[in-house]
Amino acid sequence: MAVVLVGAQWGDEGKGKMTDFLAEKADVVVRYQGGSNAGHTVVVAGKTHKLHLIPSGILAGKISVIGNGVVVDPGQMLREIAGLELAGCDPSLVKLSDIAHVIMPYHHRLDSLEEVGRGDRKIGTTQRGIGPAYMDKAARSGIRVVDLLNPALFREKVAYQLTQVNHLLERVYDSEGFDPDQMADEYLEHAEGLAPHVCDTSVLINDALDEGKKVLFEGAQGTMLDVDHGTYPYVTSSHPTAGGACIGTGVGPTKIRKVIGVAKAYTSRVGDGPMPSELHGDMGELLRERGAEYGTTTGRPRRVGWLDTVILRYSVRVSGLAGLCITKLDTLSGLETIKVATAYRHEGERVAEYPHDLGVFGECEPEYVELPGWSEDITGVRSHSDLPAAAQDYLAAIEEMAGAPVYMISVGPGREQTIEVQGVFE
Ligand code: IMP
Repeated sequence: MAVVLVGAQWGDEGKGKMTDFLAEKADVVVRYQGGSNAGHTVVVAGKTHKLHLIPSGILAGKISVIGNGVVVDPGQMLREIAGLELAGCDPSLVKLSDIAHVIMPYHHRLDSLEEVGRGDRKIGTTQRGIGPAYMDKAARSGIRVVDLLNPALFREKVAYQLTQVNHLLERVYDSEGFDPDQMADEYLEHAEGLAPHVCDTSVLINDALDEGKKVLFEGAQGTMLDVDHGTYPYVTSSHPTAGGACIGTGVGPTKIRKVIGVAKAYTSRVGDGPMPSELHGDMGELLRERGAEYGTTTGRPRRVGWLDTVILRYSVRVSGLAGLCITKLDTLSGLETIKVATAYRHEGERVAEYPHDLGVFGECEPEYVELPGWSEDITGVRSHSDLPAAAQDYLAAIEEMAGAPVYMISVGPGREQTIEVQGVFE
């Protein structure tokens, strides 16, 4: 049985924690897009683990697959594997698609140079080389894991790529070029470390499904960062929405049983681009501090705002969400009232659906409903019925406005601080 877990907002919704919780019930956990731009913070038995590339299922001792849709930084991957090994995880559980694309040092450099070149129009990327690596993939000049495992071919590809890239770096960006031999030597050393993990992961996942195993697809980033469906150009270069799970793993859509969206009880975003329900001032500061809203990958303070159900409805639509996991509900405890954006206003008109014109979206003012808050500490609550009435009402309002039922609720960072309302694998 295949279940896809996607971010229903701008990323950082708490997918890592929910994946970790669900991984206990799964046999295989798979990442299908993005790269080390993602940052999943998972707390197990009081210990904090920060993962960027490897699916958080590894912490539950499950087969953890990096699918073909992911762009892989070999050095980062090996460092993460080494860290997990030290933490007592079994590294042999990590599997890497042979057709995933490799992030090269020039992708990092170009990511920075392109951002500088954009000036005021900068995207606010994580500077991990993600965009340039996907550019090369689409331009058919990328280097894949399978190439990395063939030293002669790899050297040839690096040498060819660098004739192009060095030209660009030196002539357009007035930057220094790279030495092909040095780059190939460094990466071929990484290749030895990666080789035991590499396989045809489409076969592995499809076989697992044919054997009746439970496979969890773990999205990175979120709907509004999808290169097609997000707030383009303020997006990442891959497909966090549910369709990305098929393309990024080699599993057909007919095999996907359920798609669940993860959403914070409020909204956050890192990087630039419009966010209508953004809060400035004291309330924004309060949510940021209480919710520890600082990027896992970059440490940047996240922009925060009230929950935006226009965005949730949009995510339900573009990913076909069967349900929602609402995270960080505890962060809202102690507020007298809580606002929720239900629609926008633009030039006097009501806007009920996410507008694709970013100029319009940037000028949208949210229409809010104000709901009563609760004062109780809910971090120790373990069942829906034990939540304060106002918290239950808040969740019911989200279900109604987003158009999807709540499957799970998170009331703290720990694995045990999770309330399961409906079973995701049922
Ligand atoms: P890139 O993926 O590094 O190219 O960054 C593109 C945009 O996606 C920027 O706004 C980043 O802040 C954002 N982004 C990338 N990964 C994440 C993530 O894991 N969480 C939240 N935002 C992200």
